Amino acid sequence: MNYLKLENIKKVFSNNSKDDFIALNDVNLEIKESEFICLLGPSGCGKSTILRMIAGLETPSSGSIIYKDKKIYKAQKDIGMVFQNYSLMPWLTVQDNIVLGPKFSKVSKNERKDIANHYLEMINMTEFGGVYPYELSGGMQQRVAIARALANNPDVLLMDEPFGALDAYTRIVLQKELLKIWEKHKITVVFVTHSVDEAAYLADKVVFMKSKPGRIYKEIPIIMPRERKREDPQFGKITSELLQLFEENNKIKK
Ligand SMILES: Nc1ncnc2c1ncn2[C@@H]1O[C@H](COP(=O)(O)OP(=O)(O)OP(=O)(O)O)[C@@H](O)[C@H]1O
Ligand SMILES: [Mg+2]
Repeated sequence: MNYLKLENIKKVFSNNSKDDFIALNDVNLEIKESEFICLLGPSGCGKSTILRMIAGLETPSSGSIIYKDKKIYKAQKDIGMVFQNYSLMPWLTVQDNIVLGPKFSKVSKNERKDIANHYLEMINMTEFGGVYPYELSGGMQQRVAIARALANNPDVLLMDEPFGALDAYTRIVLQKELLKIWEKHKITVVFVTHSVDEAAYLADKVVFMKSKPGRIYKEIPIIMPRERKREDPQFGKITSELLQLFEENNKIKK
């Protein structure tokens, strides 16, 4: 079965004033069920565009996205997305934010309460169900955003630099929590990051992209048992290999 597959994707953005811009060209990628993929690459190489296309928020100019053997044309209920800027609804409490999807799907009030409690527990925020997003730190808001995505029971979770704005320590804590959730729910994750450290810690496979035009340059399987330790020399070796790819990319541009 083709679980999730990008086939010969090209994405052109048309501009009224300037020439058409080729954001992605000839992108081919196969993602297996329950795999944790990190998309890594310089700014502007098309990482978010790939996620937005898988999410059905953007359509490829040519090529196809195949999900569970079918071509996708629009947003899928079982593909969830977590954005960089948390994107919680400021007028809803934490628990109402978490069960927004189930509410749209007409899940009963009692059941929604159970779902909210379950995820509040999972993100260690049981006492925060009744507060509003502005009362929370960035790390807490991001936990809620992850809980909200999970409350829809997705098979695939797309995450666009979800920890980019967090301090280094909170980021490490949330990476660890995310891996626990991923292991427990056996979801497939496509995670965008700029950070070689984050990619080496999280991914089964790192997909390194280059820009102008955006394309996949290399797929690097990360063969290191979990829980990975940053102090392990093997971890250092992986991060330097990934960093080397950024350096190669810069040299070509000069
Ligand atoms: N709606 C749009 N209209 C025109 N150009 C766009 C649009 N969306 C993205 N682009 C261009 O496509 C390219 C890829 O953008 P994208 O946001 O996917 O990059 P990225 O790899 O996610 O970058 P970053 O790491 O900075 O988030 C960029 O050059 C961007 O300017
Ligand atoms: Mg982006």
